[in-house]
Amino acid sequence: MADDGVRGGRRWRRFVAVGGAATGVIAVLLAVAVAVVYARADTSTVGSLGFRNALRIPPLDEGTVGSDGTRRFDLTVQAGETVFLDDRPTATWGVNGAYLGPTLRARTGERVEVAVHNRIGEATSMHWHGMHLPAVMDGGPHQPIEPGDTWVPTWVVDQPAATLWYHPHPHGRTAQHVYRGVAGMFQIVDDASDGTSLPATYGVDDIPLIVQDRKFDGDHQFDMNAGFLESTGVLGDKILVNGTFDPHVTVRHEQVRFRLLNASNARFFEFGFADGRSFRLVATDGGFVDAPAELTRVQLSPGERAEIVVEFEAGDEAVLRTFPHSAANFMFDRFTGGDDEFDVLAVRAAAILSPSEPVPHQLPSSDTPPELSDVTVERRFTLGGNDINGKQMDMGRIDAVVEAGSVELWEVRNQSGLPHNFHVHDVQFHVADVNGELPATHLRGRKDTVEVGNGATVRLLIRFGELADPNVAYMFHCHVLQHEDAGMMGQFVVVEPGGQPGELDHAGHTH
Ligand code: C2O
Ligand code: CU
Ligand code: CU
Repeated sequence: MADDGVRGGRRWRRFVAVGGAATGVIAVLLAVAVAVVYARADTSTVGSLGFRNALRIPPLDEGTVGSDGTRRFDLTVQAGETVFLDDRPTATWGVNGAYLGPTLRARTGERVEVAVHNRIGEATSMHWHGMHLPAVMDGGPHQPIEPGDTWVPTWVVDQPAATLWYHPHPHGRTAQHVYRGVAGMFQIVDDASDGTSLPATYGVDDIPLIVQDRKFDGDHQFDMNAGFLESTGVLGDKILVNGTFDPHVTVRHEQVRFRLLNASNARFFEFGFADGRSFRLVATDGGFVDAPAELTRVQLSPGERAEIVVEFEAGDEAVLRTFPHSAANFMFDRFTGGDDEFDVLAVRAAAILSPSEPVPHQLPSSDTPPELSDVTVERRFTLGGNDINGKQMDMGRIDAVVEAGSVELWEVRNQSGLPHNFHVHDVQFHVADVNGELPATHLRGRKDTVEVGNGATVRLLIRFGELADPNVAYMFHCHVLQHEDAGMMGQFVVVEPGGQPGELDHAGHTH
């Protein structure tokens, strides 16, 4: 018995020792596994591209102006195939083509009308991101276009020259539809933009750059499966510019204006040049800045735009690059692309360059920003994992009732650890402050989308327009499309002063 007891005790001690060692081993293995996953989670293409493909330039579509003065566009959302890699096609969607869509251009003061035909076999919608327009023309989830149908919104362009864009916004399916390739630029011009000396020849010294990341499977098809720690959705390891992989562009002017649009689903980009050269920031989401600033980096979260003017010398080659950028906490930065860097585009300057006017010190920014003293209503929005103020998107719920013409202060905070941003339909706002301080230079102009990184509190001064409709909502949401689709979106209606909200037409209408 005693022996047994001793033996039993020994056995037990050995069991505990072995068990403890095993637990220790498992813990170490787990730590190693996490470290390996962590170590492999970042991506870099710096120095590894050949810049072999000529940059595609989306066709410029100025529509046709009828005898009634209305500028009409005709867009067909369609399926097709696009060759991005090694001659092997990828199944894609596009607008009037297989991938992306034409650059639409219209003039302030004009009435526009866009026929949007849906030929993709499932419901979609078309949203005019950054446009001030009646809610019923906005193209959000309440204006679905059924397969085979045509939707014909019309509105008067009532805002200054700017680089806007268009993309689908179907309830819960926006990420899919944009990822497959439905998106394009919408440029507004006006007399003031005509009057500047900025480069303005489309595709020559005024070049659209629609930047997107994509992941391809072994069959060269788009892969939308996110890794299990990729909480913002799929991150691509290849960058497309205007639907071109590994692109270069040749320029023939001393100064070239690039209109940058981050049309990625989830990636936050910090753009700069490999050689550290500076550029002038001339416009933000909603139009010109007052005084072009000289910068070496500009940050664009999904949906944001910036227009920059870059100076070249004959024979130059400048590589546009994205640099690591933190919008989340230490752990999530790694799994949401914050540590990644990419070579984006080689810009090759010809041996002889045409002279350009220098960038003016002042630009015609038409706008008097609202002031804190104009504010009549303050609202707070806390960005969670997939919610705003703890609530998920509900098509039948009005989250905010706003009076036409009023100035509101929206405070948006993010303590979630995750990277988020914030987009408001119908308006261009001004960033009052970020964490109580003056916003960074690239956030000082007219904006409709702004990064709200982990730990940030961003206050937005918003002057709402005069277009009231108590029965149709506009959206506000995180423009990380997986977050938006997962419910990180809310709705506001604009009512006449003193007016009451109505009932939303499509309450609970989903697909
Ligand atoms: Cu660019 Cu509500 O979207
Ligand atoms: Cu929008
Ligand atoms: Cu988000």
